[in-house]
Amino acid sequence: MDVEKVLCMVGGSSETSYASNSTIPRKALLRIRPMLEEALAEIYRNLHPEKMTVADLGCASGPNTLLLLSEVIRIISNQCLKSGQQPPEMQFFLNDLCNNDFNNIFQSLDRIEESVRAEKVTIVVPYFVAGLPGSFYGRLLPRQSVHFFHSTFSLQWISQVPKDVGDIKNGMPLNKGNIYIGKTGPPLVGKLYQEQFRSDFSHFLKLRCDELVPCGQMVLSFLGRHKKDILDGEWSIIWGLLAESLDSMVREGLVEEKNMDTFNLPFYTPSAEEVEAIINLQGLFDIIHFQTFESNLDPFHNLDDDAVLDNVQSGANCAKVIRSVIESMIASHFGSTIVDDLFSRFATNVAKHLLKEKLKFPILALSLKKKE
Ligand SMILES: C[S@@+](CC[C@H](N)C(=O)[O-])C[C@H]1O[C@@H](n2cnc3c(N)ncnc32)[C@H](O)[C@@H]1O
Repeated sequence: MDVEKVLCMVGGSSETSYASNSTIPRKALLRIRPMLEEALAEIYRNLHPEKMTVADLGCASGPNTLLLLSEVIRIISNQCLKSGQQPPEMQFFLNDLCNNDFNNIFQSLDRIEESVRAEKVTIVVPYFVAGLPGSFYGRLLPRQSVHFFHSTFSLQWISQVPKDVGDIKNGMPLNKGNIYIGKTGPPLVGKLYQEQFRSDFSHFLKLRCDELVPCGQMVLSFLGRHKKDILDGEWSIIWGLLAESLDSMVREGLVEEKNMDTFNLPFYTPSAEEVEAIINLQGLFDIIHFQTFESNLDPFHNLDDDAVLDNVQSGANCAKVIRSVIESMIASHFGSTIVDDLFSRFATNVAKHLLKEKLKFPILALSLKKKE
């Protein structure tokens, strides 16, 4: 699978688009506001740049991209108004893979100002916005040119499916019956995914360190895992329900078995300990804040409320979220004809699972400062 070609959220603004199904990262973005505020204010106070460059990595398309821009404009405008200093000119780079719906973002840029003004803040910074297509596992910007990187819900996507996960062992695919690390799957698969993440995330840190100005900062949030045991992750359950749905289609002859055998997700949710160990081993960044918080897979479900009132509706809500994220990957591997049926089966499987337990997962959020 060529991840750079097949990974892309559903574009546009229809009911099945990512833009209409991205409430979960939006809530996370609102939750990390204090981290954003602290990092940007510190950069502004310490560096007083005449030109300030900010890049959002894995921006997708939809309201969250605009929310991030308006937050940064609000924070820097407030800082300028407080200090009475000359405002910097701000350059925003919105990065994602080449198939991302950048046009959808560009067409809605005029909403940024509305949302800053809604917070009763006067915009005093001139700003410029540019799309930046390409993988964040490669260099994106000139050396020492960026003051601040942000990324929400993107770094759990690894650069490739670990090479040996598709191996045939004793005549059987190593990861038979799974599309990710299976709860009862071979431990070697977990190790291969973990190693791929370690290598990708280390590389990502090195690249961003090269691109950041001295004392530049990053705020990153992505999906993680509570348990130490790699096979016991929350996403092994969620992707396991999708694998079951695919498997039922194989049994009914609607999907070829060899297609299912060769489909594995380029995805990994690390534990907080793994992430911290990688950052510390590399020694390029100081960790300023590191938080873990939870989310429900059903964006309409209150976290504190343990009962699932309507499991069928909730299954459908969860299926819409997952479909908006991986429809393009499914369609490119299996063909677009299976998509409706697959996600309807997935909704049913989720609904059944919700009778036993809710589907929740942790989000890791951290702010990092480039070491002097
Ligand atoms: C779940 S979306 C998150 C979008 C947005 N940040 C938000 O909070 O709603 C993840 C995005 O990361 C992008 N992505 C994944 N791997 C990437 C890579 N290597 N380089 C650039 N973007 C990537 C995907 O294409 C997708 O648009």
